[in-house]
Amino acid sequence: MKRDEKSEKKLHNLLQTCPFFSDAFCCDSLSSTNDLAKELAAKESPQGTLVLAEAQTMGRGRMGRRFFSPRGDGLYMSLILRPERNQQNPGLLTACAAVAVYRAILKLTKISVQIKWVNDLYFDGKKLCGILAEGQVGTSGELDCVILGIGLNLQRPKEGYAEEIEGKTVSLAEMTAEASVPDRLTLCAGIVREFAAIYQAFPETDFLEDFRNASCVIGQRISYWQKGEQKEGEALSIDEQAGLVVRTDDGGTETLGTGEISLVRPLL
Ligand code: BTN
Repeated sequence: MKRDEKSEKKLHNLLQTCPFFSDAFCCDSLSSTNDLAKELAAKESPQGTLVLAEAQTMGRGRMGRRFFSPRGDGLYMSLILRPERNQQNPGLLTACAAVAVYRAILKLTKISVQIKWVNDLYFDGKKLCGILAEGQVGTSGELDCVILGIGLNLQRPKEGYAEEIEGKTVSLAEMTAEASVPDRLTLCAGIVREFAAIYQAFPETDFLEDFRNASCVIGQRISYWQKGEQKEGEALSIDEQAGLVVRTDDGGTETLGTGEISLVRPLL
């Protein structure tokens, strides 16, 4: 594994006043930053350990999907978390990361992106960033750690996006004038800072105000899978655990904890 000490030093400088941050592993190419973060966590690396890669050969998204990670075109980062009991709700952790990314982008570019419940960030109806939280259970059966992976498109790859995401994906450089694209490490440090502020304030959930205001889902007709059945309904609100409250077509309501939804009428 080839490490980039210059970037690691820069991250230590950028995050020296953020006590949550503990160490950085900046690598050239990895199968997935989540994989290395898992290995490090198994060797007792503490919470706040950060793994970055220039490229991922097997970057993954939710539902077993691939996350395209071409060299130098994205921010591919994972954070090791060792959540206390009151921090262990996976939906809430993902929402916390989504708001951290939203706030960091707003601060650095003045652009307000949208959050598609529960783990994606969008701009103009196109996906900019995805979040993948993976829990690791210890021998006692208790949650040992969570690996929080964030993949954010920085620029359109020269060879274009992969066929299946072309037309549905956007990058920071396409959203902003090229000159105002924050560099990868500044953005990463901004996200870690915002994340730490929210995560360390748990069970305080003020951050959900931004999660709700930035949502592109509330008031929309959505479809989702539940217990092997595809359903449709209207997204009504987001509750205090970041659950999505849905009015079902039979007139009832139900709350989704995590999982994936689609907008019946895409935002484009
Ligand atoms: C999704 O869109 O479903 C989630 C995508 C998460 C991608 C990030 S990139 C860094 C980390 N490593 C991975 O393999 N996946 C996450």
